[in-house]
Amino acid sequence: MAVETVIILAAGDGTRMKSEQAKVLHTVAGRSLLGHVLAAVDHLKPAQTRVVVGADRESVQEHIAQIAPSAITIVQERRGGTGHAVQLALSGEAFRGTTLVLAGDTPMLTGQSLAAFLEAHINGKFSASVLTTEHPDPTGYGRIIRDDNGELSRIVEERDASDDERFICEINSGVYAFDSVKLAGSIGEITDTNSQKELYLTDVIGILKRKGESIAAVMIDDFTEILGVNDRVQLAESAALLRDRINDKWMREGVTIIDPTTTWIDITAKLSHDVTIHPGSTIMGTTTIAKGAVIGPRTTLKDCVVKQGASVLESIAINSVIGMSATVGPFTYLRDGTVLGDSTKAGAFVEIKNTTVGTGSKVPHLSYVGDATIGEGSNIGAATIFVNYDGENKHHTTIGDHVRIGSDTMLVAPVAIGDGAYTAAGSVITEDVPAGAIGVGRAKQRNVIDWVLRKRAGSKSAQAAEARKKKG
Ligand code: UD1
Ligand code: CA
Repeated sequence: MAVETVIILAAGDGTRMKSEQAKVLHTVAGRSLLGHVLAAVDHLKPAQTRVVVGADRESVQEHIAQIAPSAITIVQERRGGTGHAVQLALSGEAFRGTTLVLAGDTPMLTGQSLAAFLEAHINGKFSASVLTTEHPDPTGYGRIIRDDNGELSRIVEERDASDDERFICEINSGVYAFDSVKLAGSIGEITDTNSQKELYLTDVIGILKRKGESIAAVMIDDFTEILGVNDRVQLAESAALLRDRINDKWMREGVTIIDPTTTWIDITAKLSHDVTIHPGSTIMGTTTIAKGAVIGPRTTLKDCVVKQGASVLESIAINSVIGMSATVGPFTYLRDGTVLGDSTKAGAFVEIKNTTVGTGSKVPHLSYVGDATIGEGSNIGAATIFVNYDGENKHHTTIGDHVRIGSDTMLVAPVAIGDGAYTAAGSVITEDVPAGAIGVGRAKQRNVIDWVLRKRAGSKSAQAAEARKKKG
C-alpha cells in the first residue's frame, strides 16, 4: 500500500521523562524510541519521511542523520501542539496521495500493523482514519467518541473530557492516515480552545467529520503495540514488552532461552538455532551468535561475533570475535578488538584487549593481554601480564606458534617471542626471545640457611623448623 508522506512528531519536550536528553532518544531494546518508529515506517517504503523536531534539536537531528539519512527534519521552535507540528510539516508543500502521521514515542508499533492500517484506510477510500484500541487503563490518552451509529465523530483529550467520556476505553493511538489534500485543507481550521491552549491534531478529525467526510476508526487488538512512552515507568514497561516479543521470536526460531524474564536481547542482534542462553544475559548491539553456542549465565555481549559451538560463561565481551568452539570465562573481560581463534580459551580472571589469539592457543588464568598477536597452539601461563603501556604509549607484543609463556611472566612491550620458545616462570622479559630459546629474566635464587631460627626465634615457624631438624 503506497504512502506518499509520513510525518513523525518528535518535537515534544518530554517533560514527564525529567531528562536532559530528548525523550525520543531514550532507548529500549538497543534502539532509540524514534529509531523503532523509523524502522516500522521503513517497512512501508514511503516516498518521503518528515520528522518534526524541537526539544534537544541538534542531538535529535544528528541521530536522524545517522539512522535515516533520507528523512527530512522540520524544526518546531515553539511547541504549539501536535496540530501545530503537522501544520509546519505541511507548509509550503503540494501534497498528494496519503499522509500517515504518527508520534516518535511509540516503540512497540510494528511495520505490519502500520501496513494493515494503511490498507484499511486506502481500500475504504476514507478521508481520514485513526488507529484505535481498547485499553484496560485509558488514563492519559485521547478518547474515541462515536455517534449513535457507532461511527467515529471526534477525539477528546483526557483533560478536556467529561466524566462520562473518561469512562470510554477506546483510545486514540496517535496514528492517523489522511487524504493529503483534505488534511492540508483542514489543518488551518483548528483552534487552541482547549485546556492546554495548544493546537490539537486530533481536532482535524471532528472538523473533517462536520464537513461530511468519511472517517474510519481502525481498531487494533493488541493494545501494547500503541503504548506511548511519556515517562520512565512507561519506558520500562515498553522495554519489558519488547524483550518478551524479541525472546518469543528467537525461541520460535530454535533458540533455547532458559529464563526469558532475565534475558535481554537487542532488536539488532542475530541468533542461530540451537543457541542456548542462560539466565541474566544481555545480548547487545550488532552481536551475532552462531548455532550451538552457549551463552551465560550472567554474560553481556556487545557488538560481538560468536562462532559455532563457542561458550561464554559469566563474562563480558565488547566488539570481539569468539572463534568456533572457543571457551570464555568464567569472569573474563574481552575488550575492543579481541579476536579469539577457533578452539581457543580465555579463562577465569583474564582481560584481553586489541589482540588476536591464534587457533588452539590458551590464556587460561589471571592474565592481562593487551595489544598483542599470539600465534597458534601457544599457552600463556597463569598470571602473565602483557606490559603494553610505558606511561605514554602503547606497544605491541608478538608471540609465535607453540610458545610456552611461564607463569607470572611480565612481557614488556615492544617484545617478540619466537616460534616454539619458552619463558621461565616469573621472568620479566624485556628483550626478544628467539625461536626455540628459553628466556630467563629473573634473579638467581639463594637460600639463607637458618634465617628463621635466628630472626624469628620462638615463632611457630621456628618451632616447626626445629622439630623437623630434630627428626633429621
Ligand atoms: C497524543 C494525542 C492523544 C493520543 C496520544 C497517543 C493529541 C492532542 N493527543 O497525546 O489523543 O491518545 O498522543 O499516544 O495529539 N509533539 C510535537 N510538537 C508539539 C507537541 C507534541 O512534535 O508541539 C510530538 C511529541 O514529541 C510526541 C507526539 O507529538 O511524540 C505526541 O505528543 P504528546 O505530548 O506525547 O501527546 P499525548 O499527550 O501523548
Ligand atoms: Ca505521547
